[in-house]
Amino acid sequence: MQGDAWDVLRKLDENSIDALITDPPGKFGRNWAGMGTTRPHATEVHGRTYKQPELDEEFVKQAFRVLRKDRAWNTLSKEKRAKGEFPKGGAACLIRVPIENKTTRPHIQELIRLAESAGFVFYGEFVVALDMIGMGYDSGRDKGAAWLLFHAGNRNGVLWDLSVPNVIQAKRIRNPCKGDAKEHEAEKDPVEFTELLKAVTRKGDVVLDPFIGRGRWTKQMVSEGRHVIGADMDGTWPERIASEDYGYAGETPN
Ligand SMILES: C[S@@+](CC[C@H](N)C(=O)[O-])C[C@H]1O[C@@H](n2cnc3c(N)ncnc32)[C@H](O)[C@@H]1O
Repeated sequence: MQGDAWDVLRKLDENSIDALITDPPGKFGRNWAGMGTTRPHATEVHGRTYKQPELDEEFVKQAFRVLRKDRAWNTLSKEKRAKGEFPKGGAACLIRVPIENKTTRPHIQELIRLAESAGFVFYGEFVVALDMIGMGYDSGRDKGAAWLLFHAGNRNGVLWDLSVPNVIQAKRIRNPCKGDAKEHEAEKDPVEFTELLKAVTRKGDVVLDPFIGRGRWTKQMVSEGRHVIGADMDGTWPERIASEDYGYAGETPN
């Protein structure tokens, strides 16, 4: 969908989504971070204008409303899975934020506080370690990011072990670079979330990403057998994604 994430969330049914996994815009206090989005804003960066809306109380309230409060997880032993015994718990909400430092920390803590007051339970965070360019080009860049993992409500004893390492190694998608060239200013490697996706959702689940960007993430989610509802304010990306063949005809895979 092309649209504003807040509007898209308001249109979705209550208790209808199995997971929310997203990489939102937002500066988290970093004034230089005007480059992470394609939407215009009053702020001018390098002669261009960008919109960097911060996740707010309304966003977390709507996210909590649409996420399922009672759903089967994917995290028990192979034996239990074979018997069809899946634990129940509030759907997962994974939000990618900049790594914590002096500037970003108060903003990240505020987001956690807002989410908790909307009803989410904060499970913890996973660090994304990004590769470095070297030769001095890394100065001033984010060296990594973090996933904040919340549950929409009671986690019912689930997820103390997600079998996902606390540090996830990922590639920085660069521009220019052959083959893997970056097409969207804020594009990220789907490796950042693939193991988490598999841990917190099952095949056939509906994942919401209200800030899809380029769509490599959408493609990865679909190739893992998940349905995706994706939105971006900048119509370029939803249009591009809709025109591409993601090798999935809409049926629910096993
Ligand atoms: C950090 S980027 C997402 C990048 C994406 N994960 C990728 O790998 O390509 C954030 C995206 O949010 C979009 N955006 C900004 N404001 C928005 C809003 N209010 N509603 C929906 N999308 C918005 C931007 O156009 C941008 O594509």
